[in-house]
Amino acid sequence: MNYVVVGAQWGDEGKGKLIDFISDDIDIAVRFQGGNNAGHTVVVGENEYIFHLLPSAILHKGKVCVIGNGVVIDPKALLEELAGLKVRKITITPKQLKISGLSHVVMPYHRILDGLRESKRQNKIGTTGRGIGPCYADKVTRCGIRVIDLLNPKVFKSKLADNLKEKNETFQKVYKQKGFNLDTVYNEYIKYGKKIAPYVCNTAIYLNKSIQQGKAVLFEGAQGTFLDIDFGTYPFVTSSNSIVGGVCSGSGVPPTKIDKAIAAVKAYTTRVGEGPFPTEFTSKFMDEIREKGNEFGATTGRPRRCGWFDAVMVRYSLMVNGISDLAIMKLDVLDGLKKIKICVGYKYRGKEYKDFPMDFDMLCYSKPIYEELPGWQEPVKGVSNYSDLPRNAIKYLDRLEQLLKVSVKYVSTGSKRAETIIRY
Ligand code: IMP
Repeated sequence: MNYVVVGAQWGDEGKGKLIDFISDDIDIAVRFQGGNNAGHTVVVGENEYIFHLLPSAILHKGKVCVIGNGVVIDPKALLEELAGLKVRKITITPKQLKISGLSHVVMPYHRILDGLRESKRQNKIGTTGRGIGPCYADKVTRCGIRVIDLLNPKVFKSKLADNLKEKNETFQKVYKQKGFNLDTVYNEYIKYGKKIAPYVCNTAIYLNKSIQQGKAVLFEGAQGTFLDIDFGTYPFVTSSNSIVGGVCSGSGVPPTKIDKAIAAVKAYTTRVGEGPFPTEFTSKFMDEIREKGNEFGATTGRPRRCGWFDAVMVRYSLMVNGISDLAIMKLDVLDGLKKIKICVGYKYRGKEYKDFPMDFDMLCYSKPIYEELPGWQEPVKGVSNYSDLPRNAIKYLDRLEQLLKVSVKYVSTGSKRAETIIRY
């Protein structure tokens, strides 16, 4: 059985915990898009780990982790992540980690350009500043540098020289910056290439062969559906396809080999960075939920914006991803509220809408239509049996199932592994 796990909101849905959980049933875990803009938190016992580039399943013994061709890799960040694990006495061998030679490399000029472009924009995206957008832009404009290039000094030097010729001119003329020295960048990245070389292979061949041999694969999405470059709240999105469709182009595994798609959602909604957010809380209540849910970005530490659950958004998300099972994360954060709201439609210029809008103005100025449900006073924190949930918590989940027309398989009631309900 091959699974995909994606986020159905704006990322940070708790995919790390869910993936870690499902990892028991799989042999191989694959990242297929994004880069170190992602931050997956996994708690094992008393230890917390945050992964940015490594698949979350890396802590599971006997599993192979793959960074697919759709991922953009900052080799410096990757090596730091591996070194961080080594400090905690976890050594990752080339048997455990396979990196696609076709993945594009985040270069130092991408990181700088990310910040400079943001500084020029009137409508700032609020990127993570990791150079993700500029790296994907180079991939599409066909001047990107791939991991395999770092292993071939001649090819790397000529591609880098071409890039710097153009980029340094932009840095100097448009941004009044110094630019980059060819030899300095070359020497630094050739060293990175040597260090990651043992992990590099053709991961598309590796994955397809493994699937043919009956191995089970888990594809782990980063970010979330509304940060998808096509279906997200463009332009306030990331630069890759974070939906299930991204699996195939980002790993080389065909759609016919994907058996099941699972989506993670929070029991409410959060978003980091700028962009429309119809169900966003007012500031006082926002502070309360942010504190309770520890809603601060795992990558940048930025406070997350928080709001009510938006069933219009999530229904759209489940459709484009073909989701069969839903995981509702962080239900415990809603403990103790008198009333809980669910957005069931939007109102724009006096008209009601049931579908997620394409028009940017409409998305920015739509008012949510809410349904109100009674909250629960008994804590759900730590509950691991569905029938032990407070009655109103079950009613809330039932209503979400009715609105979304999908069954809730997992409910997370705390950050620990044991604080999870698996219904079937
Ligand atoms: P970028 O991916 O760094 O270009 O950022 C683009 C947008 O996606 C910004 O609003 C970021 O805050 C958001 N973003 C990127 N990665 C994540 C993530 O892993 N979780 C939540 N938001 C993210």
